[in-house]
Amino acid sequence: MGPDGEGDVLLAAPWLHDIGYAARLRDSGFHPLDGARHLRRIGWPLRIAALVAHHSAALSVARVRGLDEALTEFPREESPVSDALLYADQTIGPNGRMMTFDERLADMLNRHGPDSPNAAAHRDRQPQLYAAVRRVEHRLSAGQTDRAWRSARSSA
Ligand SMILES: [Fe+2]
Repeated sequence: MGPDGEGDVLLAAPWLHDIGYAARLRDSGFHPLDGARHLRRIGWPLRIAALVAHHSAALSVARVRGLDEALTEFPREESPVSDALLYADQTIGPNGRMMTFDERLADMLNRHGPDSPNAAAHRDRQPQLYAAVRRVEHRLSAGQTDRAWRSARSSA
């Protein structure tokens, strides 16, 4: 890891966070869990696998899918790093285009559909997403960021 480690975590986790969508990694069918288990299996640090497991308030969706118990294989981190990962994920669309948080939520609900686990989890999940986005925006406005964060943000 780099000078403080946090910047490298913040580069690795966004790069890897959706790896569980890969067809050959599909097991439970829940990409945060499948991705995290894969990363743990091939030797990535537990912290990276855990950030992937819990990215963007995944536990809310896991509950709807009956996979919350499985997700507890991985500790849930709540920190500026997990917030920044969420922020990067929730302000960039599936084609890599930057979006506002509201656009991203609307796009997600539209893609997954009204009967999806994501839609069912939305009432519980949305406030968590919003709170993390606000925390990051506050840190940004307060200048509590660094070059590593900006780099991660532009490559997520
Ligand atoms: Fe994801």
